[in-house]
Formats: sequence, C-alpha cells, structure tokens
Amino acid sequence: MKDILQELEDRRAEARLGGGQRRIDSQHDKGKLTARERIDVLLDEGSFEEFDMFKAHRCTDFDMDKNRPYGDGVVTGWGTINGRLVYVFSQDFTVLGGSVSATHAQKICKIMDMAMQNGAPVIGINDSGGARIQEGVDSLAGYGEVFQRNIEASGVIPQISVIMGPCAGGAVYSPAMTDFIFMVKDSSYMFVTGPDVVKTVTNEHVTAEELGGALTHTKKSSVADAAFENDVEALAEVRRLVDFLPPSNREKPPVRPFFDEPGRVEESLDTLVPDNPNVPYDMKELVTKVADEGDFYEIQEDFAKNILTGFIRLEGQTVGVVANQPMVLAGVLDIDSARKAARFVRFCDCFEIPILTFVDVPGFLPGTSQEYDGVIKHGAKLLFAYGEATVPKVTVITRKAYGGAYVVMSSKHLRGDFNYAWPTSEVAVMGAKGATEILYRSELDDPDKIARRTQDYEDRFANPFVAAERGFIDEVIQPRSTRMRVARAFASLRKKKLSSPRKKHDNIPL
Ligand code: HXC
Repeated sequence: MKDILQELEDRRAEARLGGGQRRIDSQHDKGKLTARERIDVLLDEGSFEEFDMFKAHRCTDFDMDKNRPYGDGVVTGWGTINGRLVYVFSQDFTVLGGSVSATHAQKICKIMDMAMQNGAPVIGINDSGGARIQEGVDSLAGYGEVFQRNIEASGVIPQISVIMGPCAGGAVYSPAMTDFIFMVKDSSYMFVTGPDVVKTVTNEHVTAEELGGALTHTKKSSVADAAFENDVEALAEVRRLVDFLPPSNREKPPVRPFFDEPGRVEESLDTLVPDNPNVPYDMKELVTKVADEGDFYEIQEDFAKNILTGFIRLEGQTVGVVANQPMVLAGVLDIDSARKAARFVRFCDCFEIPILTFVDVPGFLPGTSQEYDGVIKHGAKLLFAYGEATVPKVTVITRKAYGGAYVVMSSKHLRGDFNYAWPTSEVAVMGAKGATEILYRSELDDPDKIARRTQDYEDRFANPFVAAERGFIDEVIQPRSTRMRVARAFASLRKKKLSSPRKKHDNIPL
C-alpha cells in the first residue's frame, strides 16, 4: 500500500515539474512565473484543485510517443478568489512551449463546461507557442472547440484572459471573445501575423513588442483592457476585478461590506464645474467622490481617454460607470470612445450590473477621418447598447449635453430610470455660439448684435430647466448630494423588471 501511495506522490512530483528545472529556470530568467506559480498567486491560498494532472497527448508522429509529459502543457482546475468559485486554466510554456494539442484543448474545454454548468467565471492564463505543430489539424480542431465554448459562454459566465507570453495566429481569437484581456508589459504579445510575415508582406520592420505588446493593445488597438508591470501585479488585479463581478448571469453581483455613509455630502462638488464652460475639470473626481470608499476600478484606462469606464460600489453593490471626461478632447464622443463605452455597457447589461452615467458631452467629433472610418455606425453602437440595456440606469448631467450625444448618453428617451441634472448643466441642441451663428447668419458682421443673440440663447436654453419642464430630466439636484441621490435611486431599482420584445438576437451595428 505504501508503495502505491508513494507512486502517486512521485507521479504528482513529476507532473508538477512540467518541462523540467532547466525550462522553469528559463521561464524565471524571462521574469515570468510558471503556470502553477501563477495559479498560486491568482487563487486563495490552498484552494486550487487540479483536474487532469496526468492527462497526456496521444500523438505518435514525429516521435511524439517518446515525449508524453504529464498535463500536456496546461494546468487546469478550480479554486476560489476571496472565497468565490472560479475555474482556471494556465498554459505551461515549459511543456512543449505550452502548445495546444487535441488533449490540451480537451482539458480547457472540460473546465469551461464545468464553469458553464456550475455558473462560475473562467480565467485563462495564456502563454503558448500556438497550435502544436506535430498534431496539425487535430490542434486546429481543439482550438475550434474552445472557440465555440467561448461564444456559448459569452454573456453567461464572465470570461477573463490574462496574456503572459506568446499568443499568436488564430490562437488570439479565444481571448478576443472573452470579456476582459489583461497583458503584462514586455513579456506578452498578441498578433494575428508576426513581425517576420509583416516584413515579408508589407515591408514594415516592427518588433513583436511594437506589433502586439501590452502597450500597443492598451493604447492603440484597444484589444486589451489593462497592462501591468509583471505577472504578480496582473494576477492581483484579476482578483480585484473578479470581486466586482457576479459568478454568472444567473446571479446578482456580490454585495460587499461597505464602510462609507450612503448619504455622504461632498460640498467640494458644488464647485467642480468651472464658471467658464470651456474650462475642463476632472470627471474622475466626481466618480471617486460618489463611489464607496473612493474606489474606482477603471477598464481601458489608457484608451479613448475622453470617456471613462469602470466599476465602483454603491452601498456595497457593484455599479458600472460610464462618464465623459472633459479633460480629454472636451469629453467629445468619437469612434473610439463610443466603441469602448458600448462594449462596457453591454457587459454590464449581460451580467445585471446597474449603470451610472455622468454626462458632459459637447457632441460628436467632426472630421473626415471620423466619417470615413464610420462614426455613424460606431456611434450607433453606444446608442444601441444603452437603448437595449434593461439594467437599472441612472444618469447625471453635470454640464453639457448637446445634440445627438445628449440622447445617446443614457437619456430618458432610452429608458433611463433616473435622469438627474446639476444646475450647471445645459441640455440643448448645441452650444449658444454655434446656435446663434446658424440662426442669425445674416447678422454675423455685427459682433454686438451676435453677442446679444448669444446671450439671449444662453439665458433661454443653456440650463437644465427646459428639459426638466418636459420631464426629460427627473430632478435638478445639488452637486454635493449626488452620492446620496444616486445611491437612493439605485436602491429603489433593485427589483426592476423590464423586458424587450422577443427575438432570436438583435442586430447591433457591428
Ligand atoms: C510544438 C512548440 C511550439 C509549437 C514552441 N514549441 N512552439 N512545439 N508546437 N507551436 C516548443 C519548442 O520546440 C521548444 O521546445 C519549446 O517549445 C520552447 O520554444 P522556443 O522556441 O525554445 O522558445 P522561445 O525562443 O521563447 O520562442 C517562443 C516562440 C517560438 C516564439 C513561441 O517557439 C515559436 O515561434 N514557436 C512556433 C510558433 C508557431 O508558429 N506556432 C503555430 C502558429 S499557428 P524544446 O523541447 O526545445 O524546449 C497557430 C494557429 C492557431 O497557432 C489556429 C487556431 C485556429
């Protein structure tokens, strides 16, 4: 009996060693953790339970029958993050470069199926040379099985990808279909075709980091949601993110203990908006002053900075925040900000996370590049996302809410539940100067007359009261009481029920 027990321990030790000490050292030399070390950092201490530790490939081509390492290049299983169940796979680059064989893919599919069945998030740690070259089409089939599960799981359980090494070719499409992608600076990259192919086809000389590194994808392409300095930091941030999310669309987001007064009055907000309407202010100040304990978990912080997206808690409950940022491009809506916010709004709606919107928007960005690149369709994404969302929606207009952008930003007309405005807000078709220049074109050569006309327009329309008279604004509120008003509004909406017409699915302008 003792021998059998010892044999199990020996086999486990062999599996845990992955591709051997030399390759583990090489992984560490690159500043990377191993697959198992990553899981240890990600999950609560001692909570990991492994599946398929001894699973091995069955390929016999290229002498592969003589090289059948336990685990086949991916560690899979489940554990907890702050006591809540999650499923995880972590590709082991020390074993055949973490390459994906048929059995490797089966292991990933198994935990995805379990996660779907049991209603818990899947976290995938990617560090792989891609399709196992020796297995050819069997590997591609394995990827296909994973892709199909990503699609079916979308909107059912949160899916989070952490890129911690190579992720190239068609392999990028599994993370691409998940809800969030985190990357590590200088040690991870994602691209469909690598630098060599790019050089051959387009004669562009570019490094892997420039082509698909963490900064490229968080600042330029917006493929990734956040970039971190190292593996430990990235995994710690995944833990923070998971804390905000419900385990599946069958359950509400978790309610955390909170240590902040819901009725907290912030007098400094009364002077947040400058007297001059053209002077910017930092919308993040409002977000953090409204949030429980000032905690704002920003998503896509480095992309389309003219709009903020992220999670806060109000009375311990997760709330998704979308806010125009006057500090960048005056908070204008454009292709990038509309896409960024639309995807975030849709994520929140999938998972029953209420949405808080702060509005200070001068309109859509004019220009040929915006029009040629399809701002019509991209702007429509945000409009569509807000309009289809059935979760509780509370909106606060702080300053400008002009034209189409007013309607887009979670207005009353898109089934907004509570639409508040600060006294400093201006709900109008456009700013006073632009309006008078159109209405009184024939008087443009008389600056005094135009100044009087502009003043007159401002007096009549540059305020929230015209919209409030019509019920498009439910209440004009004191800035200082925003947290209390918003928290009470969401509390009253906890049992909200709203449905949309039955359909197979909508046809959002992609
Ligand atoms: C089998 C692989 C492998 C692969 C790496 N290895 N990639 N084995 N299939 N795809 C093995 C290596 O042979 C090596 O084994 C070990 O992993 C580490 O690889 P190195 O090359 O020594 O590491 P490094 O120098 O860090 O380079 C990493 C790399 C490079 C850039 C990822 O290995 C590479 O270019 N690999 C091939 C990438 C590729 O073309 N994959 C297919 C892409 S197409 P030993 O025994 O020496 O340790 C694809 C399609 C997916 O993925 C389609 C989905 C629908």
